[in-house]
Amino acid sequence: MRTAPDRAGKRREGERGPMAGELKVSVIGGGSTYTPELVEGLIERGAELGLGTVALMDVDQDRLEVVGGLCERMIGAAGSPIQLALSTERSQALQGADFVITQIRVGGNAQRVVDEKIPLRFSIVGQETTGPGGFAKALRTIPVMLSIAADMERLCPQAWLINFTNPSGLITEALVRHSNVRVIGLCNLPINTLHAVAGYLDEPPERVSLDYVGLNHLSWVKGVYLDGRDVTEAVLAKAVEEARRGVRGLFPFSPEVIETLDMLPCYYLRYYYHHDQVLEEQKKAGRTRGEEVQEIEQKLLAMYADLSLVSKPRELEKRGGALYSTAAVSLIAAIVGNKNEAHIVNVRNRSAILDLPEGSVVEVPCLVGAGGAIPLTAGRLPAAIRGLIDYVKAYEELTVEAGVSGDRRAAVQALASHPLVASFAVATELVGVILEANRDYLPQFFNR
Ligand code: G6P
Repeated sequence: MRTAPDRAGKRREGERGPMAGELKVSVIGGGSTYTPELVEGLIERGAELGLGTVALMDVDQDRLEVVGGLCERMIGAAGSPIQLALSTERSQALQGADFVITQIRVGGNAQRVVDEKIPLRFSIVGQETTGPGGFAKALRTIPVMLSIAADMERLCPQAWLINFTNPSGLITEALVRHSNVRVIGLCNLPINTLHAVAGYLDEPPERVSLDYVGLNHLSWVKGVYLDGRDVTEAVLAKAVEEARRGVRGLFPFSPEVIETLDMLPCYYLRYYYHHDQVLEEQKKAGRTRGEEVQEIEQKLLAMYADLSLVSKPRELEKRGGALYSTAAVSLIAAIVGNKNEAHIVNVRNRSAILDLPEGSVVEVPCLVGAGGAIPLTAGRLPAAIRGLIDYVKAYEELTVEAGVSGDRRAAVQALASHPLVASFAVATELVGVILEANRDYLPQFFNR
């Protein structure tokens, strides 16, 4: 294994890019089947970033070797000077890192399937990030993410933490409230939204800007601008027309939903606006998305193990991570190059959305440069979406509290606040079932 020398703290906030070949990017959860896509982006823009080392860390040594092996071959085939370091030791990966990307899944996909199935028993959609499924995932994930952040404070206090770990906004809120690391929460949904909207206009995404507001997986496009010209009406008309034709792309809504809101809701809002329909579909499907993903992953890992493979296979497109590499690498490039360009990311609200507390994490357009991501003013929320955002934000806040403290009361308060949970009785029962099904992953509740 090759490791880079410790350079923690050498560069200060506000200084421009690193010296060539110096930057170290560490990926926690590097054994993810998504990693080759990330590495592809890092190879492409490695020279611009001054990238020296990519460290992949994972608790699963077998996966790390298979995924890392493919990444090593990709780097070799591209003739890139990037040094790849593989490790099952977190401290080794974090030592001297400039950027830490977290993409962990506590309990793996097996636990995701459990998350998706429990809510169905209560006639609530079973989903990885939305509703009780996301709540369970958050409770398992918060302690691990906070311990990664604590290690970063010790080993690479100047590094940026780019968090992909779901539920991304909620986890970022836990980090903002309970650690001192510099963190930006990232999701591939905003960049996919930008590309889909640009596609409606038949224009390159670089010319399009979005007036976008909300929380992660709970966001709306209020306005669209092409080179600064308001083209919202044309975009909404196109989305409505597609909805009428039954196209189920990134905006799978009835035309009435889009027309009535006069905004473009993000994909995950279907779990609210079309809840009962999705619930029926899920019940009929017989298997959950997590079960599908388990199958796709087996195929992917078998492909990655083939020593003749030197690039990301097409099979990876069956996962939901489209453009995640572009989102991460362009965000890193904006910080390293002090570009002050707009990225839609999850950060502390400050005074961007006037209806939410300053300390809440929100997903909004930000100006990104060497000092991080500064949210642009979003003003007051339209009443049509204000209530839902407020409810879900209260749920997120309480889930963070429960995830940190292991307090059952906070856990019940959290789920009872969730718009998809109808009563206190259901919230209480759900908490009991979820805690029991996650016993091995919840030391904060069971070893208090
Ligand atoms: C979308 C979401 C991600 C999520 C992914 C799930 O891209 O924005 O937050 O992780 O879908 O994809 P999967 O293949 O795991 O179902």
